[in-house]
Amino acid sequence: MRRGSLVQLILFAIVAAGAGLALALAPNWLPEPATREAGRIHFVFWFVTGICIFIFAIVASVTAYSVLKFRRKPDDDSDGPPIHGHTGLEIAWTAVPTVLVTAIAIVSAIVLAKDDAAGANPLRVEVVAQQFAWSFYYPSYGNKYSPVLRLPNKRSVVLRMTAKDVLHSFWVPEFSQKQDLVPGLHPTLHVTPDRIGTYAVVCTELCGLGHALMRSQAVVMAPAAFEKWARAGKRGQAGAGQAGQPKGQEGLTLFNQFGCNSCHTLSAASSSGTIGPDLDKLATFATNAHRPLSAFVHQSIVQPGAYVEKGYPNVMPKDFGRRLSKSQLTFLVQFLVASAKKGTS
Ligand code: CUA
Repeated sequence: MRRGSLVQLILFAIVAAGAGLALALAPNWLPEPATREAGRIHFVFWFVTGICIFIFAIVASVTAYSVLKFRRKPDDDSDGPPIHGHTGLEIAWTAVPTVLVTAIAIVSAIVLAKDDAAGANPLRVEVVAQQFAWSFYYPSYGNKYSPVLRLPNKRSVVLRMTAKDVLHSFWVPEFSQKQDLVPGLHPTLHVTPDRIGTYAVVCTELCGLGHALMRSQAVVMAPAAFEKWARAGKRGQAGAGQAGQPKGQEGLTLFNQFGCNSCHTLSAASSSGTIGPDLDKLATFATNAHRPLSAFVHQSIVQPGAYVEKGYPNVMPKDFGRRLSKSQLTFLVQFLVASAKKGTS
């Protein structure tokens, strides 16, 4: 091959690599990682992208060179000379992809293994998904409940997932990992947050009408601040709706904890969901249903389909009442009746 041709090929390759690199770097493809696992996943992403740019540069330069150099006259329909049995070329195009694919496989395997290694003493968090809300519980802190996922910075965390009704999927873009939640299974996801901040928790599995509203937050905190938060205040799932809270507060906690707030508007809870009826109008709905307010609210929770306000779909989970303990149900009904009365008075 002449020296001029080689220089031309290399020039084309540099231009193609530059274009590939610009396309890879200029748009902000990925959010900045907030966990060590995400950092490793990003490394794999850029490793593979680098290989892609390298291959693209070779293919694009040879293509561009051939198009310019071996261009045929418009009326020339003849075929080029056939190539057969170029052993060196065949070895090259087999060996190079083999090496690259093997390298990607090895890097990916190492990253997968490292990302799964939770260490001896990870913080365990129970992640519970239901239409259409996320709940988080901390077994090592008296099963403390939180509507947002609070995590200490730089600590290994194992998230254990439970779906109460249908398929959901846990995703924090900055964590780079997704985990499907399947009723009856309890998959886990290991994360080690390494950047303090607040990130979105998103459901990425179409799980019903309120799917798009099924969001929460992941808050990565300094370890001392996390410890202080985790040890403070009320305890546990059983605790919510029981002792130690000002009157009405239990009902509000339950309202948020069981995801009522994601579908219903209620000024007492500062919620603005529009999937289900506006609960500030509960008194009117009870009148429409010809039931006393308290009995109406109770029935609407336990048998959501018994009376459905006009203009709203009948999508409230049928087993909703069974998710609440008897006392929780009482607190929730009291809370809703009280806020409905306040609204009309
Ligand atoms: Cu839960 Cu979409």
